[in-house]
Amino acid sequence: ERGMVVDKERTFCMIKPEGVARGLVGEILTRIEHKGYRIVALKMLRLTREMAEKHYAEHREKPFFRELVEHITSGPVIAMVLEGPGVISGLRKLMGATNPQEAAPGTIRGDYALETGQNIIHGADSLASAEREINLYFRPEEIMG
Ligand code: PPS
Repeated sequence: ERGMVVDKERTFCMIKPEGVARGLVGEILTRIEHKGYRIVALKMLRLTREMAEKHYAEHREKPFFRELVEHITSGPVIAMVLEGPGVISGLRKLMGATNPQEAAPGTIRGDYALETGQNIIHGADSLASAEREINLYFRPEEIMG
């Protein structure tokens, strides 16, 4: 049924190294769960350079690409698949603006970050990115239906 498909929208989310190092994992998971999204896959891992370059492939030409790769490989991260109606754009709203100085209070970045290069959390920005990133980090059998 059509409604079912929309309710089961999925996105990819990552708590970046500084979020893990600062002890914000519980707080972030709480916000995600209290909103009503379901965590259907979760793992802690340290990215290799190869994985990081794949993750940020669309930003290969950006001046800050090297910085992005260095940063995301600097420590363990939490990778997740989240599920729920409108979760792709909904997660981005919970996260707040990319530049934490512009992120509204009440958002994760608005409440806990000050710099773009240390903005704590990543969320896929489109359906295509969500599918690509989920497949990069998780095998189908690692995702709970
Ligand atoms: S862009 O240029 O609009 O495509 O960039 P954007 O989509 O906003 O951001 C892409 C990712 O790069 C991070 N970012 C930066 N990191 C360090 N320094 C600077 N100046 C910078 N600008 C953007 C941004 O947080 C995005 O990473 P993720 O992991 O998706 O948050």
